[in-house]
Amino acid sequence: MSVFKISSLEQYHQQYRESVENPEKFWARIAAHFHWHKQPKNILEWNFDNFDVKWFRDGELNITENCLDRHLADRGETPALIWEPNDPEEHHRVLTYNDLHEKVNQFAQVLKQNGAKKGDRICIYMGMIPELAIAVLACARIGAIHSVIFGGFSAKSISDRLQDAQAAYVITCDGAYRGAKDIPLKEVIDDALIACPFVKRVIVCTRTRRPISMIKGRDVWWEDEIKKVETLGLKNVHPEVMNAEDELFILYTSGSTGKPKGVVHTIGGYMVYTNYSFVNVFQYKPGDVHFCTADIGWITGHSYILYGPLCAGATSLMFEGIPTWPDAGRFWDIVEKYQVNILYTAPTAIRSLMGFGMDHITGKDLSSLKVLGTVGEPINEEAWHWYDNNIGKNNSPVVDTWWQTETGGIMISNIAGITSAKPTFATLPLPGVQPLLVDENGVEIIENNVSGNLCMRAPWPGMLRTTYGDHERCKKTYFSTYPGLYFTGDGATRDDEGNYRITGRVDDVLNVSGHRIGTAEVENAINMHAGVVESAVVGYPHDVKGQGIYAYVIDENTHGDEELTRRDILQTVTRIIGAIAKPDKIQFVSGLPKTRSGKIMRRILRKIAEGETQNLGDTSTLLDPGVVDEIIKGKLV
Ligand code: WTA
Repeated sequence: MSVFKISSLEQYHQQYRESVENPEKFWARIAAHFHWHKQPKNILEWNFDNFDVKWFRDGELNITENCLDRHLADRGETPALIWEPNDPEEHHRVLTYNDLHEKVNQFAQVLKQNGAKKGDRICIYMGMIPELAIAVLACARIGAIHSVIFGGFSAKSISDRLQDAQAAYVITCDGAYRGAKDIPLKEVIDDALIACPFVKRVIVCTRTRRPISMIKGRDVWWEDEIKKVETLGLKNVHPEVMNAEDELFILYTSGSTGKPKGVVHTIGGYMVYTNYSFVNVFQYKPGDVHFCTADIGWITGHSYILYGPLCAGATSLMFEGIPTWPDAGRFWDIVEKYQVNILYTAPTAIRSLMGFGMDHITGKDLSSLKVLGTVGEPINEEAWHWYDNNIGKNNSPVVDTWWQTETGGIMISNIAGITSAKPTFATLPLPGVQPLLVDENGVEIIENNVSGNLCMRAPWPGMLRTTYGDHERCKKTYFSTYPGLYFTGDGATRDDEGNYRITGRVDDVLNVSGHRIGTAEVENAINMHAGVVESAVVGYPHDVKGQGIYAYVIDENTHGDEELTRRDILQTVTRIIGAIAKPDKIQFVSGLPKTRSGKIMRRILRKIAEGETQNLGDTSTLLDPGVVDEIIKGKLV
């Protein structure tokens, strides 16, 4: 494992140097650690001007053989997944590598029996139960492309995604438990499918056993289908041999336009990159229990609950519930119960748990923890120290991992215990990652300690390959702002040691509790509400969520009950996108600050939402400066 594992600072620098000087040689050596049907010889072809990137293009493999089969001989009886249910009173489940292998094969048979095949898009809308992991891996086993949709999205969001991907199969549950809630997943799917007649099969897994409708000819029960393949004596599925550049999954994410885009990852590069980054950033050692608290509906769950850890033969803990139910000690109970070694969570969870004080921590045994990670948004200094002091007891390195749905895996992060941590800094790039900062004109910023826009000058194996069905959009979104560079959409600074500090999005994307939400998407949803003439949405600092959503709305029904209208608008947003996109504040206004050419001056609205009343910058280009005073007067606290 010598070229794979970074075990000293010197090795980090050495690997980094090699990866920049000779990326092909470097990644060929890393890739040699995996199981290929055909070892790749052609390591990298790339072009950022007319975006086209191919890693390991002549390689052939099946990712599930890397995640499952190759571990069976040595670690068949090692737990692959430990599942902790929402309700601590319910029994947990442990699936060894043997168990997971068997179940993935069985469900892969179910998919095949239902006619699914290589290249089909399969939408997965389930709660955090082991069957979700099984479904994802079963898709990969047969070469189908999975598209997991987070359980918080609305029927409308699902049907948009189903249509975009033309998915003929849906895998869901009757319902899902989340804290005290019982979420009607199948009901939401039923609503989504009204607009999706091309969906021919819905496989429904039992979880809450709430009453649901099962449509004859379309809907089947997971458990019945498993029985059928058992009766037929169907066991292992021969894993489909895939090309390294075949698509593994689509994951929809928000951008600065109104419509979410389907980020596409391909098999070989994603596998190599998620596994390499997992093992190194967290300094994973065989036997470690890894607990990533994300939902598999987001990229973090894909990469660091499933593919990265399973490829390493690790034990990955999957948690169905939320950090504050039945009480705010839930994470710490889980750490104690399973002697968790690596804990990977989001700053928003840390801030929320901070608010509950030490009562839920005192007396719990957290001594198994060796590494703490954060992801999803900038972590403020107070939360960083709280995590370090009270959870890690100043004895576990905190890794602040910066990356994106588009990057597939961690890009900028300290390496636990090997490179130095610096609170609020994601610190240094991983081998293979070549960041730079540019000014508005795309000119590289060479000096340190100034803000710039974060870009990448070269490809890495885990990067997105396209946005589903629309390569032009992919090129435009990521490669046209600064020609020849991948633009992340984030702002950052760099200190004299080369450590990067990510300051947040510089585009119209919000980061609410670590969830990406486009302002244009929320505006579209608000504007669909009857009576709304126009709206403008901006982010503002929020103590727990990181960013809150502030909406300025022009409503023609000015004499109605404001509070009721507000609630109606929230309901509309919940219907159109999902509850995660609900504005925290809605201010009714009679006009929006616009330039003479009709463009909304969001900069001003952002400042007002942040509480600024004086230094609003240049307002001389405004069509009607009076509207600004009115907005300031009506600002919600
Ligand atoms: C933000 C999540 C600061 C950033 C893996 C990025 C972060 C967006 C960090 C991607 C971090 C993620 N420090 N900001 N450690 N990690 N971000 O696609 O703005 O859900 O562009 O991927 O989250 O969010 P996404």
